[in-house]
Amino acid sequence: MRPSFFHHLHPPTIPAAQARWRHTLGAGGAAIFLLLVLIVTGILEMFYYIPNPAEAALSVQTLTFHVPLGGFIRNLHYWAAQLLLVVTTIHLFRVVFTGAYSAPRRFNYLMGVALLVLTLMLDFTGYILRWDVDICWPLVTGTNLLKTIPGIGAWLYRIATGGGAACSTALLRFYTWHIFGLTLPMIVLGIWHAFRVRRDGGIAAPPPSFRPEPVRLPRNELVRREGLAMILIGIGLILLATFFPAPLGAAMTGTPTLTGEARAPWFFLWVQQMLKWGDPFAWGVVVPLAVLALLAAIPYLFPPPAETEIGQWFPKSNRVAQGVVGLVGVVVVVLSLVNR
Ligand code: HEM
Repeated sequence: MRPSFFHHLHPPTIPAAQARWRHTLGAGGAAIFLLLVLIVTGILEMFYYIPNPAEAALSVQTLTFHVPLGGFIRNLHYWAAQLLLVVTTIHLFRVVFTGAYSAPRRFNYLMGVALLVLTLMLDFTGYILRWDVDICWPLVTGTNLLKTIPGIGAWLYRIATGGGAACSTALLRFYTWHIFGLTLPMIVLGIWHAFRVRRDGGIAAPPPSFRPEPVRLPRNELVRREGLAMILIGIGLILLATFFPAPLGAAMTGTPTLTGEARAPWFFLWVQQMLKWGDPFAWGVVVPLAVLALLAAIPYLFPPPAETEIGQWFPKSNRVAQGVVGLVGVVVVVLSLVNR
């Protein structure tokens, strides 16, 4: 049989240390599974969604309340999107806390940061597509932040919204970004990222002489574990989609309104909290971009983990990087909670 991409990701055997659940937390694989769920459910939603400001929210209501299984599919899509962000963040923490970002994995780490940004943008554009009264304030605030950027702000705003008042004109732009402009790069980068894991020597593990046992796992055992993880995540998703419907407010039709709930979606609550402190450009653009740049620069700025410690939890040699990422995580969570 000719080797395929599947065989590239699943060699005949791999060191058991690389496949341990307690080592990877299964987060990268879970992200791929959630991405697949999102693509399938998203395509199904497209059969009913109408990207036109007068009809968008009504088409979501039709899908949710009148189409057989429509509400369930929408709930699956919503929960897979929220979980993808959670799982991707857990994955980032595990990569930093096991020192798995250092050479030769620095490029793949950067691709991971790009995937995290794409996930955030997909979650935000998807949230706007609901087009109910609650999305107007976050849409206006988010797109107005673009305008504050010196020199290119007006141009970026036009790209994002089409140039008019955001709550009137931005829907078609956000739809196109969501379906093509962000999803396609996400798929391409996701495949490339998974491909690079093997090209970089497989999941980071201590060198063979430092491994407690030289056990290797056959391919079918790896596939069995992946299958089991997918079944468990699938069950969790089905339970969430059955008992916790995706939010949906009153339709935003006619004259756009800003009287909806003036709250950012949960993943931008920390930015909303900072915006209360003053200058929108400083707190809403510069600081979030600086946090992103800091995360991206981790493999280049701070002392790398010692080779013998790569692939172990909390290596002593890269404590600074762990501290920085841990601190960013705590600050983001605290700001989000303060803003509740
Ligand atoms: C949609 C987002 C993502 C997907 C689908 C994804 C997928 C994967 C998969 C399947 C693996 C191998 C299994 C595992 O380590 O769990 C992996 C490893 C890796 N990922 Fe990601 N990832 C994503 C986001 C990220 C992020 C946000 C980062 C960090 C900024 C990152 C950095 C890495 C690195 C450095 C490795 C190699 C780890 C090692 O060798 O131990 N990834 N990713």
